[in-house]
Amino acid sequence: MAQKRIGILTSGGDCAGLNAALRAAVHRAIRTYGWRVYGIHDGSLGLMRRPVEVTEFDVRQASGEMLRQGGTILGTINKGDPFNYPMPDGTTKDRSQEFVDGYKQLGIEALVVIGGDGSMRILNKLCRQGGIPMVGIPKTIDNDVAHTDYAIGFATALDVAGEAMDRLAPTAASHHRVMILEVMGRDVGHIAINAGIAGGADVILIPEIPYTLESIAAKIGEVRKEGRNHALVVVAEGCKTERGENVTSLHRGGEARYGGIGQYLSDCLAELVDAETRVTVLGHVQRGGMPSVRDRIIASAFGVHAVDLIANGRLDRMVAWQHGQVTDVPLNEVAGVTRAVDPYGTVAQTARGLGIYIGESG
Ligand code: F6P
Repeated sequence: MAQKRIGILTSGGDCAGLNAALRAAVHRAIRTYGWRVYGIHDGSLGLMRRPVEVTEFDVRQASGEMLRQGGTILGTINKGDPFNYPMPDGTTKDRSQEFVDGYKQLGIEALVVIGGDGSMRILNKLCRQGGIPMVGIPKTIDNDVAHTDYAIGFATALDVAGEAMDRLAPTAASHHRVMILEVMGRDVGHIAINAGIAGGADVILIPEIPYTLESIAAKIGEVRKEGRNHALVVVAEGCKTERGENVTSLHRGGEARYGGIGQYLSDCLAELVDAETRVTVLGHVQRGGMPSVRDRIIASAFGVHAVDLIANGRLDRMVAWQHGQVTDVPLNEVAGVTRAVDPYGTVAQTARGLGIYIGESG
């Protein structure tokens, strides 16, 4: 009987731990089931190119080296939706059928997609159109994929943000400054609120909770009265101004990118508090580097479970981490749903309990 073949791709923004998931899937598929595993290059693009661009893996390639490696050795894209593919002349074209045809050329029987919420939605739609059995593995430093407590990459990004806090605290104290750390997270504040608590922040601002500049200034004043000469503020990139305006910059093709809320806060607070303010924008440092031990474990569990789902014919599902266990949920319950910070959940209540200003409680 011919050996079963599966394909695996990474899609959307990269993060630490993608290669660990790929490695786990390769080991499980080859060692346990005797299948052949094809890594597809550059997300959906690898199946849209002719010839299709893939690498067949063996267990020797899926080494410990791969487990530790940051980024994605397969490559990825976060701007090439095959249904609205951006063409050089500025128009968009539906190239979805090229993806489906590429898949069929490979003769694979199922696709493992390692992606965030956007990729899950697009790939799920592509797979439904082409009758392609798919299993998803959630990844994103933003940790906003529905129905999973953790997505690959979040733990490492959080460690980076926590370390940044540790490095900012002493210099803030030396210069009696208000230090503002702007972290990633797109429209959710998981990195900000967790890093803020872990790093001893006085103020944490997240897109889920509105704030006032007056209250931030009051909190900094309170800290001063208590005898501390400096303060730490963490702000998620997706926060709006006090008046509710987006802080984004427009790029080629009309793409709006986050960034700048830290500087806005710094400028505003410089007028309201009697202290110097400085801003650090952490940016893509949160996505790069070796995966943390936690991310390696989550990624490995996800890779193994994804292959087991295919083996058991449990398709069109996404692996997930719930209550300390790996499990799986239907893909159509994930697509298009964002997992935001619960303004009254444990993490937010912990921050409030510590006296951190996290915005105006409704
Ligand atoms: O979704 C992950 C993420 O890192 C966001 O936190 C951030 O806003 C965005 O991607 C940055 O995207 P790009 O790599 O296109 O600049």
